[in-house]
Amino acid sequence: MYILGIDTSCDDTSAAVLRDGSEMLSNIVSSQTAIHQKYGGIVPELASRRHIEMIWPVVDEALAAAGITLDNVDAIAVCNGPGLIGSLLVGCGFAKAAAYAKKIPLIAVNHLEGHILSTFLEDKRPEFPFLSLVVSGGHTSIYLAEGFGRYIELGRTRDDAAGEAFDKVSKLLGLGYPGGPVIDRLASLGNPKAFSLPRAYLPDSYDFSFSGMKTAVRNLIQKDGSHEKEAETTEFAKNVAASFQASMVDVLVRKMEWAIEGKGITRMTVSGGVAANNELRSRMAEMAAQKNIELYLPSRGLCTDNAAMIAAAGYPRFMAGELSGMELNPKAYLPLGVQG
Ligand code: KG4
Ligand code: ZN
Repeated sequence: MYILGIDTSCDDTSAAVLRDGSEMLSNIVSSQTAIHQKYGGIVPELASRRHIEMIWPVVDEALAAAGITLDNVDAIAVCNGPGLIGSLLVGCGFAKAAAYAKKIPLIAVNHLEGHILSTFLEDKRPEFPFLSLVVSGGHTSIYLAEGFGRYIELGRTRDDAAGEAFDKVSKLLGLGYPGGPVIDRLASLGNPKAFSLPRAYLPDSYDFSFSGMKTAVRNLIQKDGSHEKEAETTEFAKNVAASFQASMVDVLVRKMEWAIEGKGITRMTVSGGVAANNELRSRMAEMAAQKNIELYLPSRGLCTDNAAMIAAAGYPRFMAGELSGMELNPKAYLPLGVQG
């Protein structure tokens, strides 16, 4: 059974082919970073236009890499939100047209469910129930995943998403977009104790707040003023990156520890773009080892946006007969599961 996955939720055009729901035959991601970089962030209109140009070539490449054609595809899983509406429209429009033309089922997949189930593409997969931290550019939430399609959102960010905070700190340091990978690399060269930044633990809740941390970094940078010249090479920039990353990772690890204790669950996943972060991966692994918890991390390429995770999340829906029709419309705001 071949399932074609499509994700155009943000600034990457992606298509993937899975065999029998989990064997990844291809996963093509066409990045738009070069287009948006000079603006310091994603320009939605440019993103949609680029998706239109890239959707066919990316799907063709995914099919060719899997050694099949559209005629062999049994179902199409497409991300219908949350995301940038113009970007989502391109993927959904394409998927609807292809499903209609080939008379094959169409499956709508929430992008966040894709991130949660990205670990199912690895050899070692979690069993339900598990706790899931989704840390991306647009979201930071802890879910209790009880089964396919059954998610309870225990907490979420009240302001910035974790990835958004990485991107903003990078921008403040004059280091460009996307900031996560740059900060990750720079932080490894700096002293995480150089600056003491606020950590909002919000003890009575599983929610997050990163705006105080970001404002503290802004104040530090404004006081220094030297970063504008040779940002990458200054000790100051390395120390800010390391201190910021340490405070972010401290909060994410601690909150997951609380969720584990509070819910008595012994399995967890960490996914989304920020899950590619080296420090976060190693600190989560340390915590899991200490607490005797099973930790499931997608490989780095499956942390950031990709269509294989959409196909992986689409497969159980397909098996359950949860299909969509031609009335499918994308939604910029599309919460996942119920609030817990
Ligand atoms: O999941 P994703 O590709 O897109 C969204 O659904 O938002 O996540 C993108 C985010 C960006 O904010 C990016 O800076 C961040 O993930 N990111 C990282 C790393 N790689 C990507 N953040 C920290 N460390 C990284 N290595
Ligand atoms: Zn994402």
